Amino acid sequence: MADTGISTGQSAAAVRALSVTYRRGARLVHAARDVSIDIPRGRIVGLIGESGAGKSTVLRALLGLTKPTSGVVEIAGTDLSTVSAKAALALRNRIQVVMQNPYASLDPRWSVADSIAEPLRARSRQRGSEPMSKDDIARRVGEMLDRVRLPTSKLHSLPRELSGGERQRVAIARALSVRPAILVADEPVTALDNVTTAEILGLLEELHAEVGLAILIVSHSMSVIAQLADDVHVMQDGRVVESGSAESVLDHPQHPHTAMLIAASRYLDEWDGSGPELTTAAAR
Ligand SMILES: Nc1ncnc2c1ncn2[C@@H]1O[C@H](COP(=O)(O)OP(=O)(O)OP(=O)(O)O)[C@@H](O)[C@H]1O
Ligand SMILES: [Mg+2]
Repeated sequence: MADTGISTGQSAAAVRALSVTYRRGARLVHAARDVSIDIPRGRIVGLIGESGAGKSTVLRALLGLTKPTSGVVEIAGTDLSTVSAKAALALRNRIQVVMQNPYASLDPRWSVADSIAEPLRARSRQRGSEPMSKDDIARRVGEMLDRVRLPTSKLHSLPRELSGGERQRVAIARALSVRPAILVADEPVTALDNVTTAEILGLLEELHAEVGLAILIVSHSMSVIAQLADDVHVMQDGRVVESGSAESVLDHPQHPHTAMLIAASRYLDEWDGSGPELTTAAAR
């Protein structure tokens, strides 16, 4: 993989003073307003907020899928608008994404092996990247399968032949195959049952600890955020209304909207604020 070698400071990625305005007919939708979020190297950052708050918009801007109306997207300390398209692509290559619905994000016609190999093949074809041989790719696919603890017997399975948790493991293996520095996860466990959720969260924690992966995770579940996140940002109506360590934000919310989100999450019985694995302190 081509490495740009740019490493200025401790930020893996960031949006600074990001605003995104969509036009819906004659109306303007201010989906992100002056949002600044830093994803420090090796940390897990949680992003919470009610539906429509602008969370996915921030993620899309970070991934280059939505153009900012104003503000800066930075990767490894470099403002992407200040570098060539080629350099911006090389920096974007550091970020990979896992979405809510692994069934939709995996091509139904592709086997597990092909799903995981595809980003490697695409990367290998990119100008300036080191080409990988078939054997290299097969080896990396095997490593990734091992890493997400899927048996090699699943290599030739199609998505429809896998459970939801297995599909999400394939999606994670696929995202990590190109060895990103940053993983962006938009509601990665929402579609999964409790046991599978615990397994996938455990896997993300392990990958974070083993390879120092920085993670930006969006979740409506406070227990997911409490278990994983070091830092938390709370969005409401396009704005970040509260930011801080997971402990301070979840245990002592300062903004009424944060308190409301926590109460709503408790009401849904996802997080009752008690029990050994449910407080942020005990989750570490
Ligand atoms: N392509 C688009 N065109 C117009 N409006 C959009 C577009 N994408 C998002 N929006 C609007 O921008 C706002 C923020 O949407 P966004 O998807 O970022 O919210 P979210 O916090 O991810 O919500 P959810 O939790 O439901 O996924 C919403 O009002 C949404 O309707
Ligand atoms: Mg969303």
